[in-house]
Amino acid sequence: MEHETILVLDFGGQYNQLIARRVRDAGVYSVVKSYRTPLEEIRAAGYRGIIFTGGPNSVYDEESPHYSSEILSLGIPVLGICYGAQLVAWMLDGQVAPAACEYGKADVQLQTDSLLFAGLEPVQRCWMSHTDFIAKPPAGFRISAVTDSCSCAAMEDPERRLYAVQFHPEVNHTENGEEILKNFLFRVCGCTGDWQMASFAEESVRRLREQIGSDRVLCALSGGVDSSVAAVMVSRAVGRQLTCIFVDHGLLRKDEGDMVEKMFTENYDIDFIRVNAADRFLDKLAGVADPERKRKIIGEEFIRVFEEEAGKIGDVQWLVQGTIYPDVIESGNDQAAVIKSHHNVGGLPERMNLKLCEPLRDLFKDEVRRAGLELGLPYHMVWRQPFPGPGLAVRCIGALTQERLDILREADAIFREVIVKAGLEQSVNQYFAVITDMRSVGVMGDARTYDYTIALRAVSTTDFMTADWARLPLEVLAEASSRIVNEVKGVNRVVYDITSKPPATIEWE
Ligand code: XMP
Repeated sequence: MEHETILVLDFGGQYNQLIARRVRDAGVYSVVKSYRTPLEEIRAAGYRGIIFTGGPNSVYDEESPHYSSEILSLGIPVLGICYGAQLVAWMLDGQVAPAACEYGKADVQLQTDSLLFAGLEPVQRCWMSHTDFIAKPPAGFRISAVTDSCSCAAMEDPERRLYAVQFHPEVNHTENGEEILKNFLFRVCGCTGDWQMASFAEESVRRLREQIGSDRVLCALSGGVDSSVAAVMVSRAVGRQLTCIFVDHGLLRKDEGDMVEKMFTENYDIDFIRVNAADRFLDKLAGVADPERKRKIIGEEFIRVFEEEAGKIGDVQWLVQGTIYPDVIESGNDQAAVIKSHHNVGGLPERMNLKLCEPLRDLFKDEVRRAGLELGLPYHMVWRQPFPGPGLAVRCIGALTQERLDILREADAIFREVIVKAGLEQSVNQYFAVITDMRSVGVMGDARTYDYTIALRAVSTTDFMTADWARLPLEVLAEASSRIVNEVKGVNRVVYDITSKPPATIEWE
């Protein structure tokens, strides 16, 4: 293994990826694997430590995810968290029992002579969320923390380097959770912290060079963070053996196509092809109002345009894709298969008989951003908010027309400008305008108008799976509304979307 690695063994908890990210943030590489991973594979991999995650089940249910207790005899340090802690107790014949549900912050009294709690004050505010508890630790373990309502909030057998905590050190509500995880990594597992983005970027470039050799590589560049970072990384590795094809479908935000082109052609020695295919897409979409049909048409047309361009280049062996680690974890997890097929350019590699080059498949999103900065991508590019592949088509409700697309583009640009001016672009995770297919009566000057309604959408979210509508200051909304109705012809009403996800989705279509 190139880096010291911690295995996060996934028992179905909601914080699994968060644990892996916290470990990486501390400078130690981590991987997430299912509890179904065979013991032999784990033994052979040479992990420095293993973290058992939480999970929604009870260890004493037969159906619950379990693991052979041999994993505790490999000589690899283990930290069990919540369900993972109970599992350690259960595997070694301790007792786990139902408790009154404990949920929220609790003051935990720690034994500070424990390596896990070294350097901490004896009372710590920690996040608890459990319905079972360790009623009796296994033989050889001592209780190393308690709360008023939980007689075993942590236990350990330092000789065998087995540790378990009932609370969640990975969440921010546990005030010194980071220190506890670091103690596990550095004091218990003996890691040195050899995971840094600068060296990762360098290593990736070297590995890509070996992988690709003198072959030719294609990249479908969307201008999004993932495909941009992937393209730049590959270009660093093989220079002009890479050709980037940027299909401008005419459904991008204001000035976006030019911005992407400029950035790549001015800053990088990249073979960059921009295909202006707006008319083709608009033709195909004429009269189509159904959102799923729009998506399908755009996906198919994209592939057609891309194939045509690629055909002109000739002998190509590789296709770059911006797959990132959460996609890899999700597709390896049978309960959550095929969540994000839209991340990849569906079916292209097989159709074109190309090998896949996925330089970001080991990285979490924030690591992709850091890698991007390491590779010299500008800050505004690396911190771009997500933008759906079908672009403005899913923000133009009903059938698309050039006129309505133009109105939407202007209104959206104003809204984004107002948000940036108010200094909110970092705290609001996604924000955009939607043009509805509704027109209503208004009055401007002395004249009656009958124009479109623009809806503004802004959300706070960490994972985009759930989201809350952003509580934007009223004066920000007022400025956006007043500027849009005054500056964009064809709009006489602006509304703000105050629905969270679920039940709504972030996009309107
Ligand atoms: P929803 O609307 O499902 O969106 O709540 C969740 C996140 O995914 C983005 N999104 C897409 N991204 N292709 C993409 O690449 C798509 O077809 C697509 N649809 C939605 C959306 O912008 C939000 O960030």
